[in-house]
Amino acid sequence: MADKKPVRVWVDGCFDMVHFGHANFLRQAKKLGDVLVVGIHSDVEIAKHKGPPVMKEEDRYKMVRSIKWVDEVIEDVPYVTELETLDKYNCDFCAHGDDITLDSDGRDTYRIVKEQGRYKECRRTAGVSTTDLVGRMLLMTKTHHLVGARNSPIPEGKTNNEASCSNLKSPYTGISQFLPTTNKIIQFAEGKDPNPGDKIVYTAGAFDLFHVGHVDFLEKVSKLGNYVIVGLHTDEEVNRYWCGNYPIMNLHERTLSVLACRYVNEVVIGAPYTVTNSLLDHFGVDVVAHGMTPTKPSATGENPYEIPTNKGIFKLVDSCNDMSTSKIVDRIIENRRNYQERNERKEQKEIRLIEMMEEQNKNAQQFQHYSESNFQK
Ligand code: CTP
Ligand code: C5P
Repeated sequence: MADKKPVRVWVDGCFDMVHFGHANFLRQAKKLGDVLVVGIHSDVEIAKHKGPPVMKEEDRYKMVRSIKWVDEVIEDVPYVTELETLDKYNCDFCAHGDDITLDSDGRDTYRIVKEQGRYKECRRTAGVSTTDLVGRMLLMTKTHHLVGARNSPIPEGKTNNEASCSNLKSPYTGISQFLPTTNKIIQFAEGKDPNPGDKIVYTAGAFDLFHVGHVDFLEKVSKLGNYVIVGLHTDEEVNRYWCGNYPIMNLHERTLSVLACRYVNEVVIGAPYTVTNSLLDHFGVDVVAHGMTPTKPSATGENPYEIPTNKGIFKLVDSCNDMSTSKIVDRIIENRRNYQERNERKEQKEIRLIEMMEEQNKNAQQFQHYSESNFQK
């Protein structure tokens, strides 16, 4: 019997400031077929249709490649999805979240594949978006540490109440709340114990706004052994050593971001700051790794890596990448006005399309009512 041809799924997008909402979308898209092919728009293409992206294309490409459900990445693909592109990469259909993406003329970028019946939809992950993350960075409050808290960026010149009372809201660009569940963790986790004899590597940190520096670091860490455990510090601990409104992502969100990374096998949700003997024994750790960023002392002033250092199992790993969470925040603050204007423009285009669709629905209903009453006569 001939082998069944693998189903190739095409998805495309900006994947700017990749977050676990993107990862959850890629997870769902992969389940629609056998091979997941991700097309990513270049900086120039995004600037033309949406406004300049926060992250450079090389970083966006690398971030998507690091997500464990992704099989192939195609760089610099057109903003409007064309049949020629799907055919060129032998993809059966295209998948997208159940929101609308509009081009610079305000038209649906998936109109062609939808018309040809080569389009499938996944559920968008509520409560996380680039807009939401930018809002948290600009607000400088810590409400996002509370699970399910709303974090809405207040438009300049508006009070919180005026902003929330405004009718001019798009369901795609606005802010909602992410509710973490055990099911989501199960879906993201690998669920595999190490094999006997595996070399176990442990590394701990904040991994806030999971970025390309973390990816480069974890890729190198994964080469030190064959089972990588990442310990995530609690929000209180991260706030102790970073102060301000850090972490920008709470522990549940950071857990999902790290679990989506192909170089990670397991995550400790709320790891102790000091690497203790009992932690090393519990997981059978062979190597403890840390990057070149300075290590902050523990709350009691000690070196958190004293025990693994004395045992001779502590290794410094150079990611050769100087990206940091605070650099991303600085970039957003410097470009505050640009990002706010970009989101306002995006939301206005979406509202116009929603109004048009509502109008068309109303007209169709009136027409149906008119034909039915004429038929009954
Ligand atoms: N996506 C999703 N859930 C989210 C965010 C994005 O399912 N919370 C999906 C989108 O529907 C799309 C894909 O991820 O299919 C890539 O999204 P992208 O092009 O980066 O754009 P946005 O939807 O604008 O993502 P964001 O709002 O976070 O910038
Ligand atoms: O700063 P944070 O706690 O998120 O970093 C987690 C780990 O990633 C640390 O070991 C840090 O040194 C490493 N890292 C890196 N290169 C970067 C950013 C972080 O090696 N650019």
